[in-house]
This record gives sequence, structure tokens and C-alpha cells, in this order.
Amino acid sequence: MMKCYKRVAIATLLVLQVIGAHAIDGYDLWLRMPMVTDGTKVTIDNPQIPETGNFDPQFAPIAISRSELNTFLHNTGRDVHLAIDAKAPADDGFTIKYGANRIDIKSASAVGVLYGAYHLLRLQQTGHLPKNGQTIKERPMSKYRLLNHWDNLNGTIERGFAGRSIFWSSKGDIVDENSARIQLYARANASIGINGTVLNNVNASPQMLTSERLDQVRRIARILAPYGIKVYLSVNFASPRALGDVSTADPLDPDVIRWWRNKVKEIYDAIPNFGGFLVKANSEGEPGPQDFGRTHVDGANMLADALKPYGGIVMWRAFVYAADSPDRANQAYDEFMPFDGKFRDNVILQVKNGPVDFQPREPIHPLFFSMKRTKVMPEFQITQEYLGESVHSVYLAPMWKEVTDEIDMSVGVAGVSNVGNSQNWCGNDLIQANWYAYGRLAWNKRLSSKQIADEFVRQTFTKEDQGVQTLTDLMLATHEACVNYMMPMGIHHIFAGGHHYGPEPWYAPRGVRVDWTPPYYHKADAFGMGFDRTTKGSNNVSQYPKKLAKLYNNVNTCPEKYLLWFHHVGWTQKLPCGETLWDRLCHKYDEGVRAAEGFVRTWERLKPYIDEERYEALRVKFDRQAKDAWWWRDACLLYFQTFSKLPFPQDCPPVRHDLQTLMQYHLRMDNYTAAPIDQLPD
Ligand code: GCU
Repeated sequence: MMKCYKRVAIATLLVLQVIGAHAIDGYDLWLRMPMVTDGTKVTIDNPQIPETGNFDPQFAPIAISRSELNTFLHNTGRDVHLAIDAKAPADDGFTIKYGANRIDIKSASAVGVLYGAYHLLRLQQTGHLPKNGQTIKERPMSKYRLLNHWDNLNGTIERGFAGRSIFWSSKGDIVDENSARIQLYARANASIGINGTVLNNVNASPQMLTSERLDQVRRIARILAPYGIKVYLSVNFASPRALGDVSTADPLDPDVIRWWRNKVKEIYDAIPNFGGFLVKANSEGEPGPQDFGRTHVDGANMLADALKPYGGIVMWRAFVYAADSPDRANQAYDEFMPFDGKFRDNVILQVKNGPVDFQPREPIHPLFFSMKRTKVMPEFQITQEYLGESVHSVYLAPMWKEVTDEIDMSVGVAGVSNVGNSQNWCGNDLIQANWYAYGRLAWNKRLSSKQIADEFVRQTFTKEDQGVQTLTDLMLATHEACVNYMMPMGIHHIFAGGHHYGPEPWYAPRGVRVDWTPPYYHKADAFGMGFDRTTKGSNNVSQYPKKLAKLYNNVNTCPEKYLLWFHHVGWTQKLPCGETLWDRLCHKYDEGVRAAEGFVRTWERLKPYIDEERYEALRVKFDRQAKDAWWWRDACLLYFQTFSKLPFPQDCPPVRHDLQTLMQYHLRMDNYTAAPIDQLPD
């Protein structure tokens, strides 16, 4: 017991030393707090939790709270009292009572106290310490607040643009070597309320479940547990067969059922606080129950039954689509709606925010409105697979809020992480804001994008009001700009094949599945462009509640941001804004380019507020982002012009590229690295 307390304290110190040792290179994220030893006294008010020694592991978060506040809270002139109190908020919520002489942080759980401690430090860092006599009360809005890591066991990260995995390596076991980093990862997550992490890719290797790998999971879990973070694993549905233990993976086969039960027991024996499984089944070639003539319900419920005795959950992904469907956007709904009400109560359907695939903008996935008798949680992509990777600085909170404002997130939420082992974790100092914003929204979806950006900037870049204002305004403009220079007005999935960095609206090589090629989505022809998902087309609109269906179905009422998502519109058709489709499209692309060029100038204006190292790194990136905006605009407009045969409106600047050259340009890169800036077209 004594040993456990000491371990937490020593490990915390280690993290602090690591922080102290670095220049401003982004490594310490939003936890750049000056260490002050001004004697802030932190007392634990529960007699059953001794001040020192003999610490029960379940109270480890209290030890961390104490050490964090001792080290980083300063000049309040008040002592801090921590208490687990049954009458305090449940669900890891907390109260902070800011009295004249003392601050009380209370929660019904140890982790809740830790969240309260980090909240108090955030208020200090952002200049918002409470007023005398004020009591703050917080309670998370989502129960499961998870990061999903698409990390492969060889250390690569699918759609990761910030280096390699912090958990896995082709070298073998790196848990001990990386323990300080993994602990800082835990600390950063706890500071924003994230309480679970899936350690491996949804395209899961069966090897994940070998005893050797599970031992590594156990050690990672021990680093994360004191910070209130549970580990979860993505599992390959065919694991029993792939590992050679059973001849089938049929979920109704007694040997298979027994295999999973034993495996789950093995996991819980080693990791008592294990969270559960995430499953990508019968999707993009991954195995699943349908391979054995069974259903998603059969598969999910079988795993849920194995996990149930231990309190574990199954997150079953709804990201399914077959190659031959006339509309990929229809498929998850068609496949899962008939199963509503048939899943066990420890199954959660994990649904991407939109019906296709993390595009720069999508309408909300219709399943969020219709699955009434099934637990559902949204999945967002923090890593910028489709938004310029770690090269483009795009602040994603405004995009997520288009969804989170409209749906129930009380069950939980998942975010595909943008974390790798690069020095600044995300490959770009500014997009650390997306990890931060994801956690904050998972905790409280009512926070505004502006408030979250403000908090982030004050904790990372500058506390000077003018700098904060300028940088947050810039951040808030980035998502709309990215949509405009990549795919405005509801255009989607016109990326280069494979890596999804640059534009290739023409990409349609023979032999590639048509639903993996842009023409399937933009449907440009002599008449116009856009996917007809109205009642006269694929009828996707009918998957929405009546009011929305009506709105989307009518070309005159459909919001312009979704126009070409739901309608095939003629080039010369007049839009409600008064312009023709072609002119409007040209103007929207121009708007995107102008905004991206504006970011370069704004960043220059921010120079006095930013340290040299991060200023220069981001200057290079903003510069590239503006060039990419031109590349996108020219490629898309020149290509669509081959169908529209119309001239650019007079006020549009001339193109910088020619279509032939752009079409011959092929960016050579794989799925596991960020775009090489020096090889992109000028
Ligand atoms: C996208 C992405 C894949 C990923 C898949 C998923 O299609 O490109 O790399 O595996 O989503 O979410 O399962």
C-alpha cells in the first residue's frame, strides 16, 4: 500500500521534471504552469485517507490532486481542502467552494476531486479564479469520454500525422521506456476529463489479445488508472480463429463463446478496471458475424455477455458500407435500424458524426435521431485525415458543435486521437487545441468554441488579451475556411485516393471500388453536379425526422452548406442567394483561399505574442496551408469547369496552376505519415 502511494508521488515528480526540462516546444501541452512553492497547504479531509503513506490505490487521484495543487496553485492566500463526500456531485462531478480563507474541493469520487483540482488550476491559468464566496459545480454531460487510438502494434498509426505510437513499437515492448510520456498523456487527459482510451487500431490485429500483448496493456493500464482513465481494446472479431484456438469465429458457436469468456476473464484477472471492447465488424474488409451468416446483434451481444459480469461494455461501430450500394450514406441506417432495441444494455452503438466518413462537413448522421431503444455514442475524428492532416491548422470545435448541439451525448463520446510521439504530440502546436476541445466538449457540450479556444490559448500561447483575441478569432475562422477551399456547399470525398491529403476530384482508376472514387460523390456532368439524395434520388432524406427531411428535400430550403450533398443542381440554376451554382461555387472557393491567405498575415501580426520556436514552425505551416488552398481551388474549379464549360466570374482571380500538370502530379505517401511539405505543388 505504502509502495503504491510512493509510486504515484514519485511518478508525478518525474512528469514535473520532464516538463521543467523542455524549452517551449509544445511537449507540455496546456499544462504549462509555473512551479511555485509558496506553501499552499493542501489537506485531505477524509480521515480514512491518511496524509502520507499506506495509500489505497483507489485514492491515488487524491494524492495526485494534492501534489498538483501543492506545486502549481499559487498566491491565493487560501488553504485547500480535498474531500470525498457522498453528498457532493456524483458521476465524477465536483464542487469548488471558494471561501475567504479556504478552498474546498469535493466530489463523491476520488477522480471527481482530481477533476476539481485540474479545474481550479485551469481557472487560475486562464485568469478566472472564482470570487470570494463563489461555489462552482460541475458534472460531466457524457458518461464515457473516450479517445480512440488507431495505433498498430508495429508502432505506425493509421491516419496519424504526428509520428509513431506512444504505446506500441516494432521494437517490441516500449511501455517502460515511454512511461513518463504515457503518464503525461494521462495527466493531460485527466485535466480535461477524458476517462477512457482505446489503445489500438479499429482495424485490429488478432495479436492484440495474446498474453504477451495483454501484459503490456496491463502495465499501460497501471500508469493510466491513478488518473481515472480506463483502458479499452479494439478487437478483431475473428480472433479465436485467427489465433488458432478455435476453427471458427461464429458468435453462436459454443467453443467461440467459451473462448471469448475465457479471454475476458484473463483480461480482468490482470486488469480489474478494464473498460471493454471496441469492434469494427463487417466493415472495409474486417471480419464480423456476417461472415458466419449471423447479425451485428448476434456478434455484439455475444461479446457483451462475456463482459457483463465484470461491468465491461462493447462499443460496436456502425461504420458499414458495401461496395455496390447506390448510396453509401444510406447504409448504416438501413443495416442498423432494424436492430433497434435488440442490443444488450452494455452495448453502445458507436456512430460517426456524419453518414459518410469524417468529411470536412457532413450533415448529422440520421441514426442519432432514429435509434430510440439503443445506446448510441458519436465518434468524431480529432486527427485530421480529411482536413489537411497536421499541416493545416484547423480548429475543429465549431465543426463538432454542429453535431453535439443537436444530439444527446449522455451515453458517451469517442474521438479518434491525433496523438503521436512527436515532440509536440500532434505534429502542430495549434491543433493540440483539437485534443483539448474534444475533452472539454465531452465534459460539457454547452461550452462555446470561442470559450474553449480562449482557454486553450491562454494556457498555451499567450495570456495577453490582444494576442488571445487575435489568435482565437483566427482559430474560429479556420474550419469554415477549410471547407470553402476544399469542398464547399456540401461537396464531399473528392480527395486523392489513399492518403486523402490533396484534391483529386478526377480520381477514378479502373479496378478501384467506385464508392472510393470522387466521381461517385460529386456526380459532375454536363447538366450540373451534386448527389441527388432527395425522394427522387437515393431517398437518403427520408432517413431524417420529417421536419429535416422536408427541409433537405427542397432545393430552395436546403441549407447551402449541404446543397450538393442532397441535390444534383444545374450549373446555371439560380440559387436562393441570387447567384448561379457555378458562380457561387467559384466565389466560395475564392473565399476559402482569401481566408487561408489571411491566416498567414494574421499569424505575422501575432509574432510579438508567440515564442520563436512555435512561431516559426507554424509560420511554415500557415504558408503551406495557403498554397494548398490555391491548389485545391484551382484543381477543383478547373476540373468542374470541364463539365460546366462556363467562364470564371469576372471578380475571380486567375488560376495559378494548369489542370494537366495537377492531374499528373501524384503525391507519394502512405497512410501513416504527414504530407511532406517540400514535395507539394507550389
Ligand atoms: C476511414 C479511414 C480508415 C479507417 C476507417 C474507419 O475510412 O480512411 O483508415 O479505418 O475510416 O473508421 O474504420
